[in-house]
Amino acid sequence: MDSAAILLEQRRSGRIEFTREQFEALLAPETPDAVVASMLTTLAMSSHSDAEASELTQAYVASGQQVVWDDASDVVDKHSTGCVGDDVSIVLAPLLAATGIRVAKISGSALRHCGGTLDKLRCIPGLCLDLTVREFVGCVEKVGFCIAGQSPELVPADGRTYALRKRTGTVDVLTLIAASVMSKKLATGAATIALEVKYGSGAVLATEAEALELAQLMRGIGERAGRRMLMSICDASQPLAPAAGPLLELREAVAVLRGGGSPVLREHVCALAEQIVRAVPTPDSGMPSHHRIDVVLRSGRAYEVFEEYVEQLRGDVNWLNNNLDTTTAPAIVTFHARRAAMYTGIDARPVGEAAQRLAAIDPSCGVRILAEPGRSLAAAEPVFEIHAPDPVAGYAYLEALGGHCHFQD
Ligand code: URA
Repeated sequence: MDSAAILLEQRRSGRIEFTREQFEALLAPETPDAVVASMLTTLAMSSHSDAEASELTQAYVASGQQVVWDDASDVVDKHSTGCVGDDVSIVLAPLLAATGIRVAKISGSALRHCGGTLDKLRCIPGLCLDLTVREFVGCVEKVGFCIAGQSPELVPADGRTYALRKRTGTVDVLTLIAASVMSKKLATGAATIALEVKYGSGAVLATEAEALELAQLMRGIGERAGRRMLMSICDASQPLAPAAGPLLELREAVAVLRGGGSPVLREHVCALAEQIVRAVPTPDSGMPSHHRIDVVLRSGRAYEVFEEYVEQLRGDVNWLNNNLDTTTAPAIVTFHARRAAMYTGIDARPVGEAAQRLAAIDPSCGVRILAEPGRSLAAAEPVFEIHAPDPVAGYAYLEALGGHCHFQD
């Protein structure tokens, strides 16, 4: 038996837990995929200590470069496990930057029925999100924040194991999710990491218990690495912003940055920003945190910082200012209340699934929700719109989603 096979056998029989060095050897580029796959299934099928989850995370981090800041004390990273209408990062990062807190964030594309921040930002013509580590750091230094895609220089072992997790049915293993997420957070070097773990119909995680378990795992990994961890657990049974689909969600995020937009999204972002502003020391720390956040949103400073980011990454600021609100899908069809009743909400998951399928054809397509849950509607009042590539597809989705709206007499 070779040394990897002996290690795997010892781990399966419960005689050892893997150390960081052993994980590094198992994750080395020359280790055959079959051995890495066997390591993943071994971890998926056995219990593990929190310390072992940290060792795996550190081995992922060691597989690539790490960002080193001169002073990381005011650098924050933020991650959400995702939900339908989760436009938080696009609002939060420039908002924090405008208050003097730097944000360095690696984002991802859509995961299942949850839209991805990168897909939304990619709607801005020209915006380049594939950055080297140097460009990423340069953007944070100049603008105050950067959101970019994962550089191949950072945590390459995560990219490889994620592909193998898909092939071995281990994508949903909480330890592997925690190590994958936290390795990217540790590699970007922020002193503070804010994590939103979401659960419910619109989220990747179905139950609050799963969300709590994942949150605890990630908190432990972060704290053992010496980072300040700010945690929130959120119910995501309704879409967070009233839209799903890349372009529609970008528009929702920008509307909040411009001082308007969805009150639910704005309040959610402001509450998270307040938690972060209170925790991270900056020269302005004497001013009440809610006041600082209010000022940068109302004054337009948060939106200006977002414009600076778009410009820095060669995106079309003119399009952002003049075309974002007028660019629409080829067909828009509206679902109306069939009778007078109180609208109590819509199941978030089918909204997200419909938006993913529509956006795969055209990123301007998706679902826009017009009615607020808890409001009484008259007969024929609009409830939601389908933005579709053509009217036939639009009416098909309208019919299907109509069955997921809930009303009370
Ligand atoms: N996001 C990640 O980066 N990794 C996972 O495994 C799941 C979500």
